[in-house]
Amino acid sequence: MKLSKRSILAITGVTAGLAIGLTFSGSAQAQAPSITCAAGTTAGQCFKNVQTDALKNLTPGDFLSAMGVMTDSLGLDCADCHPGAGTDKVNWVIDTPPKLMARRMVNMMQAINKEFFNGSQQVTCYVCHHAREKPSTSVSLDNLYSAPNFDKDDVVAADKTAPSATEILDKYIAALGGQQKLNSMTSYVMSGESIGYEGLGGNGQFKIYAKSPDMRTTEIRFPDHPDRGVSAWTFDGKVGWVTAPRGLMGEYQLDGANAEGAAFEAAASFPGAIKTLFPTWVSGGLESIGETRSASSSSSQDIVPPDDYRLVEGTSRGGTLRAKFYFDQKTNLLVRVLRFVNSPVGRIPIQVDYADYRDVNGIKFPFKMAFLWLDGRWNAEIKNVQINAPIDAKIFGKP
Ligand code: HEC
Ligand code: HEC
Repeated sequence: MKLSKRSILAITGVTAGLAIGLTFSGSAQAQAPSITCAAGTTAGQCFKNVQTDALKNLTPGDFLSAMGVMTDSLGLDCADCHPGAGTDKVNWVIDTPPKLMARRMVNMMQAINKEFFNGSQQVTCYVCHHAREKPSTSVSLDNLYSAPNFDKDDVVAADKTAPSATEILDKYIAALGGQQKLNSMTSYVMSGESIGYEGLGGNGQFKIYAKSPDMRTTEIRFPDHPDRGVSAWTFDGKVGWVTAPRGLMGEYQLDGANAEGAAFEAAASFPGAIKTLFPTWVSGGLESIGETRSASSSSSQDIVPPDDYRLVEGTSRGGTLRAKFYFDQKTNLLVRVLRFVNSPVGRIPIQVDYADYRDVNGIKFPFKMAFLWLDGRWNAEIKNVQINAPIDAKIFGKP
């Protein structure tokens, strides 16, 4: 179930941030026809049968991310509500019983938040469903005294006894090579190999281009499977584009919450400016990574060793984007960024882990990165980093 879910989600490339459809290895897969939305259209205008007030005004990309949140919140596949999803026979438009129920649930959730929580998003699909199709209604005595639920708070509570956020970020900057050194870096190009999830797909070649203050492009190609095309995510400082050749929407401009995520990712490529990323920072003390996961759920693609890490959270003006940064207590280096953007059915998380820091011209770079999001994951093994190499501006524009 898990694996099939991932592959189906990957076909649709629902998460605009990084979706790359890595779960394909062959070319025999049936492909669903892609949907093209005219620029500036909402989900309600572009799709045929979107009715809820909460979802119809989203951009098409954000709408599909909301579908990803709903799917994962219930532990389902797209195909559980949309017959044939993942094949060329898919029918997204038809109303099935679970789809009708889901629509009622979206409206119910909005009504609960409005009436009881002043319109703030406290109740989400996950709050009740916890990755089950039907929520459990009673305490399970078997689990009562076993390991606690590993879900963490999205919103970090300040820990007054911990070092301040500024102190932690300063130590990080020093550990990377110092403010001056970081300021002298105005661009870089990283290249290497991408490894897909559980051995499926992968074997891609990726390139990440970054230009300060806020341009970034990630490209992945698969030399052994040229039919998979080139997947790309670009952000030119103002506008972002996604090209997922096997994605539901093929190529599209990023708007809405996913564009905010892309802008953050581009700006965060330059750690020398980390303190300017957010107006508000909270130091949250220590949080463990890994420890509570069962052995079976940890995978060889986990690159951050289980331990307690220093947690700092940044929040954008208006709180539409929040990011949790985890730092190693000994090296002061960043091991994880978990960021959330808003969606009407629950926040959309994207996580990037960093490991194997090595020196490149006096600046420390992570030579391993692991990207994890609602519909997939990939790991990057960096082979080469070039600092301050000239990059053609076209690289960051529309692919
Ligand atoms: C729990 C049921 C459920 C799951 C799982 C689900 N959807 Fe949906 N989907 C819906 C509902 C409900 C609507 C209509 C929303 C509305 O009316 O506002 C919808 C509408 C859509 C539409 C618009 C179709 C049209 O033309 O009107 C697309 C496209 C879509 N979903 C894609 C997906 C994808 C991709 C996935 C998997 C990531 C997915 N859905 C998973 C319930 C679901
Ligand atoms: C306040 C708690 C609550 C929230 C929030 C909630 N649900 Fe539910 N949901 C339930 C309960 C309880 C049931 C089981 C109803 C039953 O068994 O008849 C259910 C059933 C469903 C079912 C039918 C499952 C089945 O197999 O019969 C779907 C689909 C569903 N919910 C989707 C969603 C989606 C999507 C969201 C978020 C937009 C959501 N729910 C939010 C409580 C909730």
